[in-house]
Amino acid sequence: MEIRIGLIGAGWMGKAHTNAFVNALIAFGQEYGKPVFEIVTDISEEAAKKACNNWGFSRWTIDWKEVVEDPHVDVVDITTPNAFHYEVAKAALENGKHVYCEKPLTLSYQQSKELADLARQKGVINYVGYNNVMNPANYYIKKLIDSGKLGNVMRFDGTYDQDMLLDPALPISWRHINKYSGSGALGDLGSHLISVSQFLMGNIESVNALSKTFIKQRPSSAGSHDLGEVENDDMVSVLANYENGAVGTLSSSRIAAGRKNFLSYEIQGTEGSVYYSLERLNEVNVYFTSDNSADRGYRTVFLGPEHKGYTAFNPAPGIAIGFNDIKILEVHELMAAVVKGTSYICDFAFGASIDLTVSAILESAADQKWVDVKNKSIV
Ligand SMILES: NC(=O)c1ccc[n+]([C@@H]2O[C@H](COP(=O)([O-])OP(=O)(O)OC[C@H]3O[C@@H](n4cnc5c(N)ncnc54)[C@H](O)[C@@H]3O)[C@@H](O)[C@H]2O)c1
Repeated sequence: MEIRIGLIGAGWMGKAHTNAFVNALIAFGQEYGKPVFEIVTDISEEAAKKACNNWGFSRWTIDWKEVVEDPHVDVVDITTPNAFHYEVAKAALENGKHVYCEKPLTLSYQQSKELADLARQKGVINYVGYNNVMNPANYYIKKLIDSGKLGNVMRFDGTYDQDMLLDPALPISWRHINKYSGSGALGDLGSHLISVSQFLMGNIESVNALSKTFIKQRPSSAGSHDLGEVENDDMVSVLANYENGAVGTLSSSRIAAGRKNFLSYEIQGTEGSVYYSLERLNEVNVYFTSDNSADRGYRTVFLGPEHKGYTAFNPAPGIAIGFNDIKILEVHELMAAVVKGTSYICDFAFGASIDLTVSAILESAADQKWVDVKNKSIV
């Protein structure tokens, strides 16, 4: 079966998604569908043309509406900046397309909930790109939690830090302006951390947050002396209660000197703990109280064939996989859902649940108070 793709947004993630479709076919075979690169669009004509020529699309356009209405497109793949997800995804769903959308799903819980409801009503596949959930390491850690190997889980202490925006000479981009991004480090990086934490621990019940903008102005364009206002958080710290009774501390910064892709967390239970960092993607550190006490200590488990998804790439343990492999696992799950109707975790309802937590954190940081996440969904 052919899966005909219409890609909207030919930037970094547009390239990562296309790479993942190509390689999902190699990793998993035609049984899960054969991707056909039908049409690509970008607001930049140059980017659309370049993607068409280099990535194997048949056609290009600068009008995204052509893509969502195209009868030759099965999956609309949205990799534009956050602000355009809602309108494009809504139009694609209304045209009966399957939709694969980058995270965060939209700028608000209300918009995401509306899309999740519409997707359910239309009966189409609705997938949001929270790729860290697809990481074999996180599946392994979930298994440790669900099997009771860590005992009662009491604490999730997580961080997602990068220093990509530490340099104040870097100009304003869509990431700094709320009408395009929704929030700063919180929506960009923190939403990934929340997705992993809610996948592993279940939903967050209430939050108390603090956020700050340290670089308040940036050049309006590279090298310019005109300055524009940075509208959103450079960093955020959150205290959280999980519905399962555990305590959470979650933080995120986009100006964390020395941190490159530091999505890291420790989970502590009554019978063991786990420490994981995306900067050491292939290494899961585990500690079990059941180990012989003389030898007891944190030890490293390397990803290998016994961890879900790994054998798509390598037959033997300890051969490193990377970010683009995890995107391949994500795309495979999407293709399997389209072709075989298999279930998947990162649907639009999951995306909406992350946006709900994000909106509770924004409210808490603005009003300096505890916010009940569940009650927000009633508002
Ligand atoms: N899952 C991940 O790990 C991950 C990583 C990076 C980015 N993202 C998400 O992916 C999305 C895109 O981020 P990126 O880093 O690829 O950005 P990018 O700036 O590299 O690419 C975005 C592209 O969209 C185009 N574009 C902008 N508005 C458009 C419109 N209205 N119609 C068509 N094209 C439009 C831009 O010209 C650009 O080529 C964001 O939502 C971001 O949060 C996810």
